[in-house]
Amino acid sequence: MRRIIQVGVGGMGQVWTRAVAESASWEAAAYVDVSHANLMAAAEAHGMPIERCFSDVNTALSTVEADALLDVTPQQYRLDICREALRHDCDVLCEKPLADTVKNARSLLKAVEQSGRRLMVAQNYRYQALMQTARQYIQRGKLGDLGYVRIDFFKGPRFGGYREEMDYPLILDMSIHHFDLLRYLLDTDIRRLRGLSMNAPWNWNQGDASVFLHLELANGVTAAYNASWVSPGWETPWNGHWRIEGSEGVLLIEQDRLFFANKPDSRRELTLRKFTREHQDWLLEAFYDCLDKGAEPETSGRRNINSFAATHAAVKAVQSGRSVNVAG
Ligand SMILES: NC(=O)c1ccc[n+]([C@@H]2O[C@H](COP(=O)([O-])OP(=O)(O)OC[C@H]3O[C@@H](n4cnc5c(N)ncnc54)[C@H](O)[C@@H]3O)[C@@H](O)[C@H]2O)c1
Repeated sequence: MRRIIQVGVGGMGQVWTRAVAESASWEAAAYVDVSHANLMAAAEAHGMPIERCFSDVNTALSTVEADALLDVTPQQYRLDICREALRHDCDVLCEKPLADTVKNARSLLKAVEQSGRRLMVAQNYRYQALMQTARQYIQRGKLGDLGYVRIDFFKGPRFGGYREEMDYPLILDMSIHHFDLLRYLLDTDIRRLRGLSMNAPWNWNQGDASVFLHLELANGVTAAYNASWVSPGWETPWNGHWRIEGSEGVLLIEQDRLFFANKPDSRRELTLRKFTREHQDWLLEAFYDCLDKGAEPETSGRRNINSFAATHAAVKAVQSGRSVNVAG
């Protein structure tokens, strides 16, 4: 068993405290949260002794022995928290996005490199039977030459909190999952993008929460991304709906089901491959394995930078009305 300090036990933090509690490889060494109420609720739910509950990460890292730190705080705290963990010789598993700005993401990557420790970003959407099957289908060449992709994502969550104060909450908090999936499914990077953002009249966020983007990928494929986080009804799942077109047919992801079509008016549902451990459970095991083998995680900070940079390039593109290159 390896020991992990979890920082941030709020909304998503509760998913992680449960995953760690159920893990056969990881043991929760301590919880840290600036919200006393959230900290106490997590401690009570999982029997964490009060002397291993902290309101600041420094004290936790100096008091409790741990192999790793799990950061589930909002992006604006990521750099400081993760850098502190690296300074205390801990490996890091952090939530997406990697940071709040491209500059801070680069600083974090530098700190990782200098420390010689590992940092893995929780891009959990990759690790579901649905996406694993879709990726394998594409990689086996079943679609022929790939041409273009359309992604539709429409949801209307009312989170409250920091997201509603962000300039572009959808692009900067959510779209990274879809951009990262695009890279993963098609095994490529995002090179360039342009688009528009919309402020729907009923938008309950301070920043625009709806976009149309056009993405150019390194393998020559283009993608259309139509998304809104203030959809008033008939929502898509969190994965969104996908249409991936190739010379031999179309792969469709709808309502978290997978279909293949190569006729104008019919399609066939594909059986999902067995992938028993998904999302956070998969990430925890993969993180453990990487530390065991000294291997770089599939979603290390370095490998994640293109997904992350694409979100910030998208903001620049919608603000300027121009095409913007994506770094990384
Ligand atoms: N991978 C996913 O599917 C997924 C889903 C939801 C959220 N997330 C990510 O998880 C992260 C957290 O999101 P959330 O929805 O849980 O937010 P939240 O606001 O519900 O919870 C954040 C928690 O962090 C605590 N916190 C804030 N600053 C802190 C600090 N400096 N030190 C210690 N604790 C601090 C807050 O008190 C709160 O309890 C974000 O990066 C978000 O993008 C990922």
